[in-house]
Amino acid sequence: MSLLSEIRKPVEKEMDKFESFFNRTMKSDIPLLKIILNYILRRKGKQMRPLLVFLTAGLNGRISESTYIAATMIELLHTASLVHDDVVDDAHERRGALSVNALWNSKIAVLVGDYMLSKGMLISVEHGRYDMLEIISEAVNSMAEGELLQLQKSRKLNIKEEDYFKIIISKTAALIAACTATGARSVTEDHDTVQIMKDLGENIGIAFQIRDDLLDYETNGLTGKIVGNDIKERKITLPLIHALELASYSEKRHILSIVRSRKKTKNEINQVIQFVKVSGGLEYTENKMNQYRDKSLAILDSYPDSAVKDSIRRFINYTTSRSK
Ligand code: IPE
Ligand code: IPE
Ligand code: MG
Ligand code: MG
Repeated sequence: MSLLSEIRKPVEKEMDKFESFFNRTMKSDIPLLKIILNYILRRKGKQMRPLLVFLTAGLNGRISESTYIAATMIELLHTASLVHDDVVDDAHERRGALSVNALWNSKIAVLVGDYMLSKGMLISVEHGRYDMLEIISEAVNSMAEGELLQLQKSRKLNIKEEDYFKIIISKTAALIAACTATGARSVTEDHDTVQIMKDLGENIGIAFQIRDDLLDYETNGLTGKIVGNDIKERKITLPLIHALELASYSEKRHILSIVRSRKKTKNEINQVIQFVKVSGGLEYTENKMNQYRDKSLAILDSYPDSAVKDSIRRFINYTTSRSK
């Protein structure tokens, strides 16, 4: 099994240094903000995005100051997007603890998210790295579009697989593509290399979100993720989209009436999960995910063997097998 701690090995020192850099940016003199930023810092995530920034930089050259700038910006923007996402999803848990909107309220969560987002942008400006700013603000722009597209589409009876992919490419893969693009950009000016790395990241990102959506159907105690949470939030993802495509009209109506109701019993959520399982929705989705995993592995394969390349390969495999 590939663990993140093992995958980090080739860039371990850099990741440690990044963390103190990141922690320093999460500061403010405003008392309330100070408390909340601290609360967020104490429940840090997996930090997969900064890890990917460093690994891609290492794959293409020598890690530089701008690699740290990119990694810090991206983790800040990612964290901001989670704080906002929990408001949008009305989610009360994040990283196994209460979300900011649950512990304080939505107004505060929106503003704290804005604070981190603007802080992220400022870092590139302070260092005059407008190239990083360009790549990363494009991704943030796309994330907002993806979240809006999801609000519009993902509760509809007729959501199509095509809509699903559009949503996840925008809301998730764009930022992961920015990790690999900025990682490369921090060590080379070669446009083609940056583009290839961006493509690599996009494929990883799609697989990453599909795995996230599959986790919603899995029972496990580790995650801080609650089984059936997407269904509870009335969010239709690929396993269910596929199952619905295969269902009879009456079955479809029955399942959708459950999904779209605001209050659901445990039993109803289980009915939806069982419906997806029985129709092979999980195998279908896993298969799709593995196609993107394989695409990204194929891109990586054009590089000569190295410890960093091996870590990225394991990063990709971890992405599609992770249980948190
Ligand atoms: C969660 O991302 C949001 C998605 C795009 C699914 P992560 O799973 O990387 O979140 P943390 O940072 O580790 O909590
Ligand atoms: C991921 O979306 C959040 C962003 C990309 C901003 P989800 O809503 O699917 O992720 P979780 O399940 O809340 O982490
Ligand atoms: Mg969410
Ligand atoms: Mg969401």
